[in-house]
Amino acid sequence: MTNAARPRRSALYLPASNPKALAKARTLTADVVILDLEDAVAPDLKVEARAAALAAVAEGGFGRRELVVRANGLSTPWGREDLAAISAAGPDAVLVPKVNSAEEVRGYDAALAAAPPHTRLWIMIETCAALPHLHEIAACGADTRLAGFVMGTNDLAKEMQARPGPARTPFLPILTMAVAAARAHGLVVLDGVCNEFRDLGLFRAEAEQGLEFGFDGKTLIHPDQIAPCNEVFSPSVAEIAWAEAVSAAFALPENAGKGAIKVDGKMVELLHLDQAERTLAIAAAISAS
Ligand code: COA
Ligand code: MG
Repeated sequence: MTNAARPRRSALYLPASNPKALAKARTLTADVVILDLEDAVAPDLKVEARAAALAAVAEGGFGRRELVVRANGLSTPWGREDLAAISAAGPDAVLVPKVNSAEEVRGYDAALAAAPPHTRLWIMIETCAALPHLHEIAACGADTRLAGFVMGTNDLAKEMQARPGPARTPFLPILTMAVAAARAHGLVVLDGVCNEFRDLGLFRAEAEQGLEFGFDGKTLIHPDQIAPCNEVFSPSVAEIAWAEAVSAAFALPENAGKGAIKVDGKMVELLHLDQAERTLAIAAAISAS
């Protein structure tokens, strides 16, 4: 499976200081598990949480799930040691908070110099200062480990003093621009969390909105959010059928070398073939998992 076709429909955070949640995460159907050392862990538990996250990475048992550790920022008392320890452990990715600029991405990349090559850098997009620089920040993907954006909508709301309702109106331009910047530079891009974990109707609506924006998936805080999230972000039966029809039509000898053809009475172009191939690759990866 190529990295681009890896499903990242659901990314579950859990405080690395919570052993019960750590054990449970190995049994859940989230595509990505994010062991948090940052906001979900109180200062007194930071060192203990780091040790627990490292032990969990070393122990493994997460199967096909992508394993990510969220570090504390380099400006905090724990950041430098978190990054050194995570580098030695070598999870699939390190997620870092409150990145404001391309320069800060390069700082994190340098702090991860000792990590194995497969350890990618994902960053939280959650500060007002980052917003005018999303393209410059995403462009660091070309020559650093940077491979993903994760929206931090709780921190954004706090900084902006925004009051987002269920429609998330204050965030709409930000979500659009973050997805566009990520796509322009080939990064993974995951939507923010829905705090109301007992209201799965609200959750589903928010996940569907994230899908409309083009996110690969959504970050989650509770196991109950995983199943609806996977459902929303999986290609539908109709999308798979359409992708198969587009792919088959372009493979016909009479369509060889053509840029635009007709499928089921509609025009499709080579750009739709790219989309169809991506849909089929994701669907195949999901059914293999
Ligand atoms: N990951 C793995 N397991 C989790 C979990 C998570 N994020 N959240 C809850 N669980 C487990 C609980 O341990 C419990 O397990 P059990 O059935 O074996 O007892 C089960 O799921 C049900 O949990 P529930 O009682 O409904 O929730 P809770 O009151 O224990 O926890 C939260 C509620 C919000 C504190 C908890 O879900 C949480 O810590 N979420 C993640 C927070 C986080 O990481 N935030 C940072 C990013 S925004
Ligand atoms: Mg945050």
